[in-house]
Amino acid sequence: MTAQFKPAPPDDDSERQSGAIALSEFFDGHPVATFAIDTKHVITHWNRACEQLLGWSKGAMVGTSNHWQAFYPKARPLLADLVISGEQVEFDRYYEGKYDNSSLIPDAFEAEDFFPNIGKSGHWLHFTAAPLRDHGGRLVGAIETLLDVTERRVAENALRRAHDNLEHVVEKRTAQLAEVNERLEDDIRARQLADAELRRRNIELTELNDQLSMAQQQLVQSEKLASIGQLAAGVAHEINNPIGYIFSNFGTLQTYLAQLFDMLDVYQQAEASVADPDMAARLRAMREDIDLGFLREDIPALMSESKEGIVRVRHIVQDLKDFSRVDANQEWAWADLHQGIDSTLNIVANEVKYKAEVVKQYGDIPDIECLPLQINQVVMNLVVNAAHAIAGPERGRIAVRTGVLDAEQVWLEVEDNGSGIAPEALKRIFDPFFTTKAVGKGTGLGLSLAYGIVQKHAGRIEVDTELGRGTRFRVVLPVRHSVPEQEAGA
Ligand SMILES: Nc1ncnc2c1ncn2[C@@H]1O[C@H](COP(=O)(O)OP(=O)(O)OP(=O)(O)O)[C@@H](O)[C@H]1O
Ligand SMILES: [Mg+2]
Repeated sequence: MTAQFKPAPPDDDSERQSGAIALSEFFDGHPVATFAIDTKHVITHWNRACEQLLGWSKGAMVGTSNHWQAFYPKARPLLADLVISGEQVEFDRYYEGKYDNSSLIPDAFEAEDFFPNIGKSGHWLHFTAAPLRDHGGRLVGAIETLLDVTERRVAENALRRAHDNLEHVVEKRTAQLAEVNERLEDDIRARQLADAELRRRNIELTELNDQLSMAQQQLVQSEKLASIGQLAAGVAHEINNPIGYIFSNFGTLQTYLAQLFDMLDVYQQAEASVADPDMAARLRAMREDIDLGFLREDIPALMSESKEGIVRVRHIVQDLKDFSRVDANQEWAWADLHQGIDSTLNIVANEVKYKAEVVKQYGDIPDIECLPLQINQVVMNLVVNAAHAIAGPERGRIAVRTGVLDAEQVWLEVEDNGSGIAPEALKRIFDPFFTTKAVGKGTGLGLSLAYGIVQKHAGRIEVDTELGRGTRFRVVLPVRHSVPEQEAGA
């Protein structure tokens, strides 16, 4: 928009009649504060809104170049002055970063700034300066409008402050949240650690518990063995004597009986020559009554059966004695375990060979310090038990293995593919006199004996069994015999 402009004093009478007067009225009454200067920077117009906004009267301003006074404490060009001078350097110097080309009017500029000197507490003004040109397009002055944008700026500032404040609050909250989150994460980590620690402790405790209950079982077992041992020693001693003389008397009795039968034979032969018919009849009747022929056959059978029984009782007594004094007449010695096993297998060969094939799987093991005969006894009991466990018509298999557990321990295993052991029986197999075998077939001492011997060696026996599949006994023995403390001290 290019305004037609004639610089002239505002109350020039001749011009009040023309269109320019109307323009002057229009200018004065325009609600936007506006002033105009000519090319010499002299104020030509200063409207009422301008007076009101800036507090400087038209009379004081028009005709002077003091328009800066309304804005600044020191003289300097305004945007309108720069539109006239057109000096780019000046624009940059006085309005750097604050001015812009007007989006509506070509060649016009606008800027916004705060003026602390205006009014009581200063004002924000948005001002636009545009060149004024005559018909020929010549520059004749400049016009500048001033929009009071204080309210908007104040609101904007308040908004910005509120926004900043909000951002600050959000930032603070976010930081707090992050902190809480971090604490939570720390908490979780600590909890996880504690949890893992708890679980580890639990495992340790469970292991300890297992060890304890195993130790307890062993204690109970050795306690049982000790008291049974004492009992057995007493019983064995008591039975041993009578069995001794019953056994020797039996031999004599057998001889006497044989003699009596010989004697009876002679009497029987003499029967025919007995003269007294009554006596002969009585003799015959008695012979038939007692069925002498049967007695002659049955008595020796009864005798040998009884003798077998006595032999077995003697055997049991011997076992009992062995059991109660497992270390009697024995010396600790370094021995080849394989040699012992071989000789034991030879001894039990008769008992085993019809029932099972024996497979030896020997490892490379060192000699061990042990009571060799007693270890043989252990092997024998295990192998005989294994053979007994194989009951079916098919030939079974017994594996005898050895191996090294570590630098200080070796093991030997006897495994069968026999009946296996029922869980109820498994708890008691090491108990003295526990047997599942028919009367006369087992005394139930084999394993308790083996247990006592292995314990004496500071070793252990482990059982792995499954009904119908078979059983594996593993004996772990220390390579070197360590003298128990109480014995070492004695
Ligand atoms: N290899 C095995 N397979 C199945 N059961 C077994 C085996 N070894 C032992 N047992 C069971 O353990 C019980 C106890 O065995 P232990 O050797 O102590 O006595 P026994 O063999 O019955 O009699 P003894 O050995 O005194 O002649 C046996 O009666 C049997 O029930
Ligand atoms: Mg046995």
